[in-house]
Amino acid sequence: MYRLKSENIKQLLKTVDVDKDINVRGWVKTKRSSKNVVFIALNDGTTIHNLQIVVDPGKVDESILDNIHTGASLSVVGKLIKSKGSGQSVEVMAEKIEILGKSNPDEYPLQPKKHSLEFLREKAHLRFRTTTFGAITRIRHAMIFAIHKFFNDKGFYNIHTPIITGSDAEGAGEMFRVTTLDLKNPPLDQEGNIDFRKDFFAKETNLTVSGQLEAELAALALSNVYTFGPTFRAENSNTSRHLAEFWMVEPEMAFYDIHDDMDLAEEMLKYLIRYAFDFCMEDLEFLNKRFMDEEKNKKQEDRASMNLLERLQFVLENSFERITYNEAFEILKNSKPNKKKKFRFLIEEWGSDLQSEHERYLVEKHFIKPVMVTDYPKEIKAFYMKQNDDGKTVRALDVLFPQIGEIIGGSQREENYDKLYRRLKELNLPEKELWWYLETRKFGTVVHSGFGLGFERMMLFLTGMGNIRDVIPFPRTPQSAEF
Ligand code: 4AD
Ligand code: MG
Repeated sequence: MYRLKSENIKQLLKTVDVDKDINVRGWVKTKRSSKNVVFIALNDGTTIHNLQIVVDPGKVDESILDNIHTGASLSVVGKLIKSKGSGQSVEVMAEKIEILGKSNPDEYPLQPKKHSLEFLREKAHLRFRTTTFGAITRIRHAMIFAIHKFFNDKGFYNIHTPIITGSDAEGAGEMFRVTTLDLKNPPLDQEGNIDFRKDFFAKETNLTVSGQLEAELAALALSNVYTFGPTFRAENSNTSRHLAEFWMVEPEMAFYDIHDDMDLAEEMLKYLIRYAFDFCMEDLEFLNKRFMDEEKNKKQEDRASMNLLERLQFVLENSFERITYNEAFEILKNSKPNKKKKFRFLIEEWGSDLQSEHERYLVEKHFIKPVMVTDYPKEIKAFYMKQNDDGKTVRALDVLFPQIGEIIGGSQREENYDKLYRRLKELNLPEKELWWYLETRKFGTVVHSGFGLGFERMMLFLTGMGNIRDVIPFPRTPQSAEF
């Protein structure tokens, strides 16, 4: 059976020199039988397209043909020929078929029909085999690769920042505790509190919420670095845009101010979209059709004004709007939905954080393009952000996207030791957890900036999917860590 080296379906479908013997393996998507011929659609995940296997029922054992069902794995030897039917350029005339793994049609959950995304989340061990998740998984890979390529081509160095961290200073979210203490019988100190000196690291440790603070240390030596790792946040926010475990791309650049930071963010986002157009078009076209089908089910007034491909093209072709929080605040305060009390959170007092409804109003209704908002009130942003001379705002940066809201959060960092130290004290942050961070401002401090892109938020934007649980293979959300 394996005289021939097996070839993958992506390569086979591109083959021009037909009439050769091949061996191909994959999983059955569908089987259609008539008296004289059986058609099997075979897929091996290398491409969105199936390879059509044509079987003369007289040539293949009946017991084998009877056992070919959706989900079964096959090895097929046959001749690759020009297709007689429309819809594919080549197909395979089967000579020999071996069933590698049977699939009981009464038990296999993935029938050849459209399943709901909710149903597929419960079948995350098998959903890779659906056309939708095949497409998303291939795009996800392409984007991971493109991110490394983008930064490598620009001379950035990749830094592995720690996943277990001893500092809780970032304040980006609730953390997950890491401990080896016996939870039934933890050691106590004299005051009766858990004695973490007896824990594995002899201190309290958690899963990281961001690699930024450590990336800054590297940037202050290597100039341009980035970290791209998993981050963990234990907020109990069960939304379509939040995960408890997600991946973040965090570049950090010495000698960059907030304007350089914005330029890089815009360049990177556009590069990723262009890369997807160049290398993932077949998968994107499928997702675009899917997106348009979903839109048809919505009420007229809720439908998007552009389809997925148009929206990606639109972001690529337009420069992002750059405004300050003050400007955003004025626009929102005087906006129709605010005056008519349509926002869930009304914009009244300067200083309140922008909610996702406000972000989307700015992007989708007011500017009708991506928006970068800078200079937020210092109270709603992290301690490390560069303080402006007004004493009220910091050099924060949020990039807001259609459909998504916040896709990037970043800032210019406070490089002045005294100002940073004062802010730390104002916020009551523990100096002894951050001594190493402070020291970089003592020894050769420089202006520097960075940002964090939520990788799954980018995937939501690129795929047009509505729920973040569907753009990561194994989502972690409150009450849910199956698989
Ligand atoms: O705005 P955030 O909290 O920024 C930081 O963590 C900074 N330390 C980044 C930096 O400057 N290096 O998070 C960055 C991005 C958000 O804009 C959002 O896209 C994404 O991470 N994000 C989440 N994505 C999925 N699930 C969650 N729970 C997320 N929280 C933030
Ligand atoms: Mg943020």
